[in-house]
Amino acid sequence: MRRWDAVQLSIIVPTFNEAPNVAELIRRASEALEGIDAEIVFVDDSTDATPDAIRDAAASTDVPVRIIHRDRPTGGLGGAVMAGIAAAQADACLVMDGDLQHPPETIPDLFDRFEQGDVDLVIASRYAGGWATGGLADKRRILVSKLSTMLTRAMFPIRLSNVSDPMTGFFLIDRGCLDGAPLKPRGFKILLEILARKNLRVAEVPFDFAHRSAGDSKATLRQGGHFIMQLTALRFGKMSLFAVIGGLGAVVNLAIMWGLTSLGVDYIIAAIIGAETTIIGNFLMQERFVFHDMRGEASTVWVRFAKSFTFNNAEALIRIPVLAVMVESWHFLPVIAAAITLAVAFIVRFVFHSLVVYAP
Ligand code: GDD
Ligand code: MN
Repeated sequence: MRRWDAVQLSIIVPTFNEAPNVAELIRRASEALEGIDAEIVFVDDSTDATPDAIRDAAASTDVPVRIIHRDRPTGGLGGAVMAGIAAAQADACLVMDGDLQHPPETIPDLFDRFEQGDVDLVIASRYAGGWATGGLADKRRILVSKLSTMLTRAMFPIRLSNVSDPMTGFFLIDRGCLDGAPLKPRGFKILLEILARKNLRVAEVPFDFAHRSAGDSKATLRQGGHFIMQLTALRFGKMSLFAVIGGLGAVVNLAIMWGLTSLGVDYIIAAIIGAETTIIGNFLMQERFVFHDMRGEASTVWVRFAKSFTFNNAEALIRIPVLAVMVESWHFLPVIAAAITLAVAFIVRFVFHSLVVYAP
């Protein structure tokens, strides 16, 4: 018989209408937990019979199972996870989904890695062993997942330099590391929130993301919107600075062009001189103010400059024909088309500089 006071590991499972999945989860987790003194804590916001299904299954295992049923759920999935961590018996808190997309058989991998004692957080990554995206329902979700992972890593290049899957919901954290952290769990991506706000020692173990066993995913377009907000809120710093410098550069660009043309220089030549001056000036400003903490030993300023300069020129060259296609073939208003291409160019430029020019 396992004893409460000896709990080494608390497994936190947020559930929202997972009645068909919880029995198998408890059964497979119990098997996987052989030799580990663990408890399972469900944080349940369900409106279906999930609590009954949990209680039934709990009767046939000797792993202690608790249910925290939240009548007034706050903070969605992130809030549920934080409530589970707060209520856990052990400091080692493992978080996983209740729909069997996170195979319970991976629990010992996480726990064993954590027990080595040199890290605060172990992440079960879908991408650590390649791109095992089996459980992402369709091509669109795979694309969305890859793109958002790329964007996220570009926005937090240092913090996430050794995190291949910052959006996973499957991880084991030492609760002690969260003390005093002003975590505001918004939406789905609680791990990202933790990673962005706390400087933790992280390890990853790979796992195979399974298909949802039964029921429906709660991921929605609205969650996607939340995610974008969360990212922006977390990372307003670098990107906004990048934008401000880009904006200043545009003003300088126009001023140079105006000055040169009023001296009688041909406007094409003036435009080219203005653009190249801006590209160089922006690089120097960004090197100094935006990415100053990311200039690794591996590259020199000349290598970074070469990459930045090549990219910005290519981007400027490509933007013109794209603009033409948008206006001529797709009948966008020229001003709208220009605004869209500039907005997209801004994001691509930022991602490229974060990931390639200042490669972590
Ligand atoms: N308590 C509670 N409250 N649980 C919730 C809520 C909520 O508001 N919303 C969702 N859950 C539970 C679900 O019941 C499930 O156990 C788990 O959280 C994940 O929700 P899914 O609906 O299965 O979402 P998913 O499969 O799209 O999301 C998974 O992949 C994401 C990465 O792509 C999860 O692992 C996420 O944590 C992960 O970020
Ligand atoms: Mn799921």
